[in-house]
Amino acid sequence: MAGFEGTKPPVTDSTPCVSRRQFVLHGSLATIALVLAGCGGGGPTSPGSVSLTINLSDYPALANVGGVAYVSSGNNPLAVVRTGSDTFDTVSRICPHAGGTVNSNGSGFTCPLHGARFTDSGTWIGGQPTSSLTSYTTQYDSGAGTLTIS
Ligand code: FES
Repeated sequence: MAGFEGTKPPVTDSTPCVSRRQFVLHGSLATIALVLAGCGGGGPTSPGSVSLTINLSDYPALANVGGVAYVSSGNNPLAVVRTGSDTFDTVSRICPHAGGTVNSNGSGFTCPLHGARFTDSGTWIGGQPTSSLTSYTTQYDSGAGTLTIS
């Protein structure tokens, strides 16, 4: 083998060298990632749309601005919030983290499972990191006294 006498042969193995410390660090991160992935999935999820019409008179809590009513569309628990005299927000109560059912806390929603917090319109604002609640279009027909949620 001319050319290699007295010198080390070129390294042809492309496997990266990993020290014990790197292995322990990366192994720990991988374990944490697996735990987080397991914690953040597998629960119920919110559908992208719903089709529901409710009568406001059936939900006295919605008579005043800031009122919150729980309704459901199939297996999807929803919260309707009166945000103004003619405006309403509707969000799924299914927490996007792992499927807990969020509850109204008077100024938004809190998930009882790991503490994620959301605004009345479903925007995540703290606690367990996750995405925002699924929100739905809500149309108010003042003449009929109905809300159509889709
Ligand atoms: S399910 Fe974990 S914060 Fe809601």
